[in-house]
Amino acid sequence: MTLVNTQCRLAARPVGLPQASNWSFVEEPVREPAPGEFRVRVEYISVDPAMRSWMNAGRSYVPPVEIGEVMRAAGVGRVIDSHHPDYHAGEYLYGTFGVQRYAVSDGKGVTRVDTTLAPAPVHLGALGFSGLSAYFGLLDIGRPEPGQTVVVSGAAGSVGSIAGQIARIKGCRVIGIAGGADKCRWLVEELGFDAAIDYKAGELRSQLKEHTPDGVDVFFDNVGGDILEQVLARLARGARVVICGAISQYNATEAPRGPANYMQLLVARASMTGFVIFDYAKRYAEGVTQLAQWLRSGELRSREDIVHGGIEQFPDVLLRLFHGENTGKLVLALEGGE
Ligand SMILES: NC(=O)c1ccc[n+]([C@@H]2O[C@H](COP(=O)([O-])OP(=O)(O)OC[C@H]3O[C@@H](n4cnc5c(N)ncnc54)[C@H](OP(=O)(O)O)[C@@H]3O)[C@@H](O)[C@H]2O)c1
Repeated sequence: MTLVNTQCRLAARPVGLPQASNWSFVEEPVREPAPGEFRVRVEYISVDPAMRSWMNAGRSYVPPVEIGEVMRAAGVGRVIDSHHPDYHAGEYLYGTFGVQRYAVSDGKGVTRVDTTLAPAPVHLGALGFSGLSAYFGLLDIGRPEPGQTVVVSGAAGSVGSIAGQIARIKGCRVIGIAGGADKCRWLVEELGFDAAIDYKAGELRSQLKEHTPDGVDVFFDNVGGDILEQVLARLARGARVVICGAISQYNATEAPRGPANYMQLLVARASMTGFVIFDYAKRYAEGVTQLAQWLRSGELRSREDIVHGGIEQFPDVLLRLFHGENTGKLVLALEGGE
């Protein structure tokens, strides 16, 4: 069967926000699978802040995407045809299939997606790396105790919304920081956060003081920059700061801004620890089982922000993350194709 692929490739490394000139689009036939391989039609592409850092040259926790390569992306796809003994036509799989319509895979890094558990896009959010990052980052590194105050930045995003809900499930007081009144309302009214602060309204410092009268025991940070600095100033004694990400710095054209007041860690006898979710690979099953159980019981809610379109839409969809236009997990659902 001859299939024509559409691929989004990295054409040039961006300075600041990615632009149209950083991408190229290529159409070419998809090769037939060799013995031990199968072909997948990608249906959902996970759109992640980390993609911005993969576009940079230099040292990180994964190698950069090279110029001319298909943009790296996780996704969920359906097997079209297979010469692999373990994977069969029609199965839904999760894998790093890239920003392209079709992928050829030998099964490395691929896992089966149980669509009876939840629809496919949820496996990129609450039951995927977002949920797992929230679960292990909060519980393993943040170690919240019942009654403690947990602050989450990027709280209406994919990871943040799950981290805050897990803190609530664990009996903590949860304060979310997010951009805009609608997101803040959603956090409190739908997800059960105790309070939410709209950092764009310009009163972060006074709002933090009001909502954390006894200080902050755990800070789950997705944003970095000014928000990190403001929360460091509120740490309770023995606090744990979890560095999940720093999206406010990903498009910086100068050296990323560090917290000028890091000595607050000393004052509070606090720790600040970064983590990479891949280090928890041996415990993914534990995380997914617990997250799925909370979803089933209704204690945890997932939200997917699904944009329908073609591969050509990917550059614009990526920018939504940096403009705060998503609530919950941002996914590009591919239309058309065979
Ligand atoms: N350590 C790990 O292993 C790991 C794994 C997965 C993800 N992460 C990190 O987790 C973080 C969240 O990822 P996600 O997939 O859940 O994305 P997301 O939170 O769903 O989307 C990004 C959100 O960040 C906020 N934002 C963007 N620019 C901002 C700025 N300048 N200042 C403040 N907020 C800004 C926006 O919300 P507002 O409207 O609220 O501004 C936007 O909706 C990222 O930093 C990501 O790199 C880390």
